[in-house]
Amino acid sequence: MRCYPTVILFHRMAGFQDIFSGTKRGYWQLRGGISNLNRYAITVSMLFDLKPKEKIKDFFNYKEELGAFVGCLTNKSTRMVVIRGLRRTGKSSLLKVGLNKCGVKFVMVDARELSSPSRRSFESKLLAKLKAVKWLPAALLEKIESVDVGVRVSLRTDEGIWELLKALNPVIAVDEVQMLKGTGVEAFFAAVYDNTDCKIVLTGSEVGVLDAFVGKDNPKAALFGRGFVEIKMHPLEAERSREFLMAGFKEAGKSLPEDAIRKAVAELDGIVGWLAIFGNSALGSEPANALADSVTKGTLLAHSELQSFLGARRSAEKRYLTLLRLLAGGPMRWSVLKREMQAVLNERIADSQFSNYLKSLVAYGFVAVVGNIYEMPDPLLRRALRGGISN
Ligand SMILES: Nc1ncnc2c1ncn2[C@@H]1O[C@H](COP(=O)(O)OP(=O)(O)OP(=O)(O)O)[C@@H](O)[C@H]1O
Ligand SMILES: [Mg+2]
Repeated sequence: MRCYPTVILFHRMAGFQDIFSGTKRGYWQLRGGISNLNRYAITVSMLFDLKPKEKIKDFFNYKEELGAFVGCLTNKSTRMVVIRGLRRTGKSSLLKVGLNKCGVKFVMVDARELSSPSRRSFESKLLAKLKAVKWLPAALLEKIESVDVGVRVSLRTDEGIWELLKALNPVIAVDEVQMLKGTGVEAFFAAVYDNTDCKIVLTGSEVGVLDAFVGKDNPKAALFGRGFVEIKMHPLEAERSREFLMAGFKEAGKSLPEDAIRKAVAELDGIVGWLAIFGNSALGSEPANALADSVTKGTLLAHSELQSFLGARRSAEKRYLTLLRLLAGGPMRWSVLKREMQAVLNERIADSQFSNYLKSLVAYGFVAVVGNIYEMPDPLLRRALRGGISN
């Protein structure tokens, strides 16, 4: 068999049992000529695969959220769903798994795919996706693309889109929708909501920007007043995090010392995306190195997201950083936080301005607020800030 040399190579490198306790899918992927252990690791534990999950069997826990989402997709009265949650808590995975599971007709656009964040670019991407779906009746395609003196002529994007949406009523799902805020796509969705039976599903990483997109509490916003259901992704509890890691290692036919699992659970604080990076890395390296590796990757990512936030707010950068560093030390009440910040900076800050700083940090998901207590939910951002990163 042609796959023989690859199999033998892995037999020598990692141990026969490790290789063949993987799934059949992992085996076939090995035939493709994977040349290092890390890539091999990705193939044998789908739970630790680093892309958003698409299939229910690779999607750990979150049964309640998945049930609620599928319920919204199948229930006629829900017109719009917003999936919220901190970074790396599995929003895109829930979106994909839910849409695939319940067999509804859907088109999905990731706003990062667009050449520019504009309504025109969004509409043409959506139209292209609608025209490519396999459930599109040929007669409908003919209608929107007619042949004129031997040349194929498409209806204008806006006409074609409305023709298709009204005829098909698909679920329109958009990931990273915060990138489209202020582009007019909000008005497009308001028209979809009012003039078709399509459902709309929106998700994105920046909670407050998502709120602004759907016009929460803003009567002037295009989507204001349209009802929607919110589904919130939350970090896993410690016991569930442990189960996630154990399940991933079991899938790969590997076990890890209890102590290594305990350390990872404590460090990564239930954020499933960070746990997946750790698990993936630990399949091909020592647990301590894997933890250091996942913490480094996560910390860099958290830091780079913070830098793009600060980049657009240079004049207040020092204040934001001071605030964040204080919160990296632990949760605080509004009044204590303000007092401490003024003491560190040795300057007075107006209440309204201080509240605006906090609002922006909450809007972008760097800070969370429960009642009057502010905290920084991402363990790796806390670490990045405690490590003294400043630029
Ligand atoms: N329920 C789950 N079971 C297994 N792995 C998961 C689950 N949810 C998410 N993951 C993994 O966690 C990582 C982050 O997932 P995902 O991209 O879905 O999160 P997100 O909240 O959309 O992230 P972002 O905030 O960056 O958009 C991926 O590696 C994904 O495979
Ligand atoms: Mg996502």
